[in-house]
Amino acid sequence: MKFFVDTAEIADIRDLAATGLLDGVTTNPSLIAKSGRNILDVIAEICAIVPGPVSAEVAATEYAAMLKEAAVLKAIAPNVTIKVPLTPDGLKACYALSQEGTMVNVTLCFSSAQALLAAKAGASFISPFVGRLDDIGQNGMDLIADIVQIYNNYPAIRTEVLVASIRNPIHLIEAAKIGADVATIPPSVIRQLYNHPLTSSGLAAFLADWAKTGQTIG
Ligand code: G3P
Repeated sequence: MKFFVDTAEIADIRDLAATGLLDGVTTNPSLIAKSGRNILDVIAEICAIVPGPVSAEVAATEYAAMLKEAAVLKAIAPNVTIKVPLTPDGLKACYALSQEGTMVNVTLCFSSAQALLAAKAGASFISPFVGRLDDIGQNGMDLIADIVQIYNNYPAIRTEVLVASIRNPIHLIEAAKIGADVATIPPSVIRQLYNHPLTSSGLAAFLADWAKTGQTIG
């Protein structure tokens, strides 16, 4: 399973990239706003740190304007992935961009019908939002299972299922059990993945016993 980090914070990206865990980065207009920085500067900086796909989202909602913005974003670096919303114009832009070889991440997916459309439009990634579905009382993970099943029925579909709106480690593990291709994870949730109380208490016991030996290594 590929791990992307869902943030526009350079310090977090730099820190996580050094662990070797990061396969890519996703941003969205809210995350860019939270960073307080210019989108072009942020995306350029991220692309210089992470060689994998870096999603940069268009803000336009109309086809021609989306393509204009996509051209600006694409010019930043070869690993920029254009993120478009799952709308008729967004999918038309997805088709045009993917035809010319640009990676496209179709975002704001909340149904398997939408995911099927994105695949047919040539999306490199489909981003179903599990947390936001859970928020309204629907099971976000059921959607992931449905999309994976549907895509697996058609080997010609190359679109990767990118699980978004992940809020906790359980979301990640459930998505991995289903076989989703990618998870985009907030930095705080990635850091949670390391933790287990038995690891902490086990290490404390080992260190205490080691101290009793009076030994050093090397
Ligand atoms: O980047 C899209 C998605 O991951 C947003 O998550 O937590 O705002 O629903 P969230």
